Amino acid sequence: MKSITSADLVTFVVDSREEAEHALAAEIASVVRAKPNAVLGLATGNTPIGLYRELIRKCATRELSFAHATTFNLDEFLGLERGHPESFHRWMDQNLFGHVDLPRERAHLPEANSGDAGADDDAVRYEAAIRDAGGVDLQILGIGRNGHIGFNEPGSPRDSRTRVVELHEVTRADAARSFGGLEFVPKRAITMGVATICSARRLRVLAFGAHKAAIVRRTLLDAVNSDCPSTFLRGHVDVKLFLDREAAREL
Ligand code: GLP
Repeated sequence: MKSITSADLVTFVVDSREEAEHALAAEIASVVRAKPNAVLGLATGNTPIGLYRELIRKCATRELSFAHATTFNLDEFLGLERGHPESFHRWMDQNLFGHVDLPRERAHLPEANSGDAGADDDAVRYEAAIRDAGGVDLQILGIGRNGHIGFNEPGSPRDSRTRVVELHEVTRADAARSFGGLEFVPKRAITMGVATICSARRLRVLAFGAHKAAIVRRTLLDAVNSDCPSTFLRGHVDVKLFLDREAAREL
């Protein structure tokens, strides 16, 4: 693992995704061992799948237990029925929650389907629930091709909290294939805000593949600005970025 020295974002370039996944899974295990009731922030997408596989393996071999942990996911599409194949609720069940000993009542995602009137209140309640749990100890993050973190799309303010957002066209286009067409992709979502995310005590960011190279360069080198919300990660007191060689190729 090679590290790139930068004033405000510790960056590691790994030889393989697995190297990053193993390192981060080991860190998560040590956080949970030191504090069994740790609060973890979780992400969806292709990026963290291998990390979750490694966490599942550690639970199976009893190197790790989530029995006393709490989790909060970053975001959820609005308006999907519970159990919709593309909902993040369902995705988390399939890729993590269904395979580890985390009690379901402590695995939180934003509410997807309480209707237009209820969504703003749900967002406020989600933010309060994170605060009441003592805040997030370690947040796992991916980066969207447009610089989104969670669903904080370009233009999201640095001081934003959990709220309802309109999805950006790049985000919807990226989701179109799995939804079976752009017309089926929801237009809105609930997401933790930029400030919510940056309140986590540790931020661990993963970016893999050539399709992330341009946004990785912008994350590290663009002026810190809401045009590219991932630039707001710079300057956090404990943030680490793990890249494979393809994602690092424009640096
Ligand atoms: C998704 C999620 C983000 C995720 C990002 C990247 O839409 N809302 O939390 O980090 O987009 O996705 P992927 O990992 O599939 O590239």
